[in-house]
Amino acid sequence: MESSKQRSSFSGRLGYVLSVAGSAVGLGNLWRFPYLAAKYGGGIFLLVYLVLAVTFGFALIVSETALGRMSRKSPIGAFHFFGSKKLKIGGWINAIVPMMILPYYCVIGGWVIKYLFEFLRGGNGLAENDYFSHFIADPTAPLIWFAVFGIATFFVVICGVEKGVEKSSKILMPILVVLAVFIAGYSVTRPGAWEGVKYYLIPDFSKFSLMTVVAAMGQMFYSLSIGMGILYTYGSYMKRDIDMEKSVGQIEIMDTLIAFLSGLMIVPAVFVFSGGDQTALNAGPGLMFMTLPKVFNSMPFGNIVGVVFFLLVLFAALTSSISLMETCVSTLQDQTHWSRKRCSLLMWGEMLLIGIPCSLGFGIWQGIAPLNMSILDFFDFLSNSILMPIAAFFTCLLIIKVVGFKKIADEVKFSSKFRRQRLYEFCMKYLVPICLLAILLSSVLNSLQIIKI
Ligand code: PFF
Repeated sequence: MESSKQRSSFSGRLGYVLSVAGSAVGLGNLWRFPYLAAKYGGGIFLLVYLVLAVTFGFALIVSETALGRMSRKSPIGAFHFFGSKKLKIGGWINAIVPMMILPYYCVIGGWVIKYLFEFLRGGNGLAENDYFSHFIADPTAPLIWFAVFGIATFFVVICGVEKGVEKSSKILMPILVVLAVFIAGYSVTRPGAWEGVKYYLIPDFSKFSLMTVVAAMGQMFYSLSIGMGILYTYGSYMKRDIDMEKSVGQIEIMDTLIAFLSGLMIVPAVFVFSGGDQTALNAGPGLMFMTLPKVFNSMPFGNIVGVVFFLLVLFAALTSSISLMETCVSTLQDQTHWSRKRCSLLMWGEMLLIGIPCSLGFGIWQGIAPLNMSILDFFDFLSNSILMPIAAFFTCLLIIKVVGFKKIADEVKFSSKFRRQRLYEFCMKYLVPICLLAILLSSVLNSLQIIKI
């Protein structure tokens, strides 16, 4: 990152909100949220997610943004700035997470381009049951599409044309919302969809387990880009007269709305086309790719809807992958002082190194299953359920032990009323650290099969 003197900043609140929303709204909302909601009990997952977003999520976004704005640094620099030698590792963990996400994010981005390409060619066969599983098991095709998405991200970052892409996403994002409302409306009115709507909206407490909380929390981190340094960086570009509390609220609402709509497009459709049996609901990362082509196939002009939809998903994914790559490159630049080109090339190499196994893990490397997961799921689990909670825990410690709540409140109050100050402090002092530790411990023990949650 640049030094504080030359640091650029957002022109106003709208610029800030739209840029962060461009980074936050991506595959997490459209691809990841629906398959987790389907798997972890529908309504109960939605409820837990919402509760976590307005407590945990709110508290952590405010914290990271305030720490970024106070220090004018990205995470490693921010931990250093506050002079906490013992907690320095926390800055590093925050910085490493995006490096773990970027590779598999590009693998899924590749799937999106493949589906866009196929819809452009007429969409033949996409709605068939085995299409997706055959595609991801292929030894070369997914790798080629992964490379195409990775190269697109890389070029945007290295040519410095992010602004152009961000600007177009500001127009495309509202169109995405309108299209999502339309597709969700179509989905929920199909015969048999009502059972799915009920499954998605009405919490069934018998389906609650600690795993629901673990999954919802990981999703919240992922979707709101918490625990990965990104909000520190965005906060460091935020001017002090921008109302932080209001901006954070708007970003949360936008992000959650798109995730909610995405679930409404997909979960009821699973009931329409597969009767909602548990195997179909448990489909995992492929759910969006297996379900939506069936929806489009059944509607008039479905092919055109398919093209437009996947084009919009591609843009949402690109704005997110660009900000992931940008964060990784600037962290590397900050620490090594190497040229931007060299750092970008290194990140590209790292992306291939982790991304290729993630892609092959669904096909010829299926036998490699760390903790009984596919390689992609393993990296997803490692980053979302382990590293992000640890990173967030360090942010809590930094505030509790070093910075203090008074300074954070002063920073927020510079431009906000900070109406939720009491909620914020309660969450950061008690709820977040205690729950983070409990959840982290149980998810690790569960994945090592020491306990069953
Ligand atoms: N929040 C993004 C999503 O939901 O797709 C993922 C992401 C983007 C994480 C950018 C981190 C980031 F820096």
